[in-house]
Amino acid sequence: MLRSRITGTGMYVPDKVVTNFDLEKLMDTTDSWIRERAGIVERRFVDSEVGTSGLAYEAAKMALSNAKLQASDIDFIVFATLSSDYLVPGSGVLLQEKLGIPGIPALDIRNQCTGFIYGLSVADQFIKTGMYKKIMVVGSEIHSTGLDLSTRGRDVGVLFGDGAGVVIVEPSDDPDRGVLSSHLHADGRFAKELFMENPGSLHIPRLTKEMLDDGSVYPIMNGRQVFKNAVIRFCEAITECLTANNVSPDQVKLVIPHQANLRITEAVAQRFNYTLDRVFSNIHKYGNTTAASIPIAMHEALMQGKINKGDYIVLVAFGSGFTWGSILLRW
Ligand code: UT7
Repeated sequence: MLRSRITGTGMYVPDKVVTNFDLEKLMDTTDSWIRERAGIVERRFVDSEVGTSGLAYEAAKMALSNAKLQASDIDFIVFATLSSDYLVPGSGVLLQEKLGIPGIPALDIRNQCTGFIYGLSVADQFIKTGMYKKIMVVGSEIHSTGLDLSTRGRDVGVLFGDGAGVVIVEPSDDPDRGVLSSHLHADGRFAKELFMENPGSLHIPRLTKEMLDDGSVYPIMNGRQVFKNAVIRFCEAITECLTANNVSPDQVKLVIPHQANLRITEAVAQRFNYTLDRVFSNIHKYGNTTAASIPIAMHEALMQGKINKGDYIVLVAFGSGFTWGSILLRW
């Protein structure tokens, strides 16, 4: 069977570091609250109008170079984000324009924290059918310009950061290595547990001064409910991809979870009896970068020598929707 394999990774985060102490100046919060509840020490915020596609462009150049490809080799772009440069069109075509590769398809995916898992799964299907051969899968977000960074929004505002991660997906030359399987889920009954109501097409008119004043243009979250579901679904999704491939938890070299909260990562590690070095974490540096968090983490894990040929690697995510899913890779 034709499998797909990740042949290059890249990442980019803006230079501007925003520490918890910086946030203390904007709202009623403390460094210790943020560290203890979420494990975040600092995050990156854009300080120019670079756009989500602009962050992705920087990560894309690195991924292409690592895959030893030119932009003109790419035959499909899959772009996952919840924070596109414009509401219309999506950021996929904007990245395509920056890369200078008109004509190839660009697909936008909006599955929030699970966006990269959905995107990589879509790419995998197209590689398996033979329709595309060099696919760029992107997770990129700019949260900083869309958060309520006052005390009113502190429960959400302290969690998120900006960044981009990109992988290149190609057919594997070894049938035993690559994406072994992907598993996608959603449950819209929980859509409002983590959502941003406005502006949207539901309301007439879409955007009013009242919406700006009442804060409904910012994301809100039922933190405890999301946390509880995240731990359950992360564990289920990991078990699902291992069971599907007859791989035991002991055989897994590294789990790369979506970076939502260090306490979630620790709970997952505990459930599978993993020491913390087997469940990758970089949330202390970047906060939650939604669709970008897994490809950024994967790139850093590779650079740190934590992923080697033949290793079983689990990617797993949960987030707004609710959406969740997992992918088992053999590197
Ligand atoms: O990426 C998508 C998936 N996202 C997640 O998985 C996130 C899931 N949820 C969480 O990570 C956690 O629920 C949070 C980190 C968001 C919150 O932690 P928590 O332990 O669930 O705290 P809480 O929401 O129960 O709030 C505890 C207290 C409250 O005060 P009272 O009511 O006990 O007096 C909050 O008002 O902490 C207060 N609080 C804050 N205090 C200082 C909320 N936000 C802050 C803040 N600084 N930034």
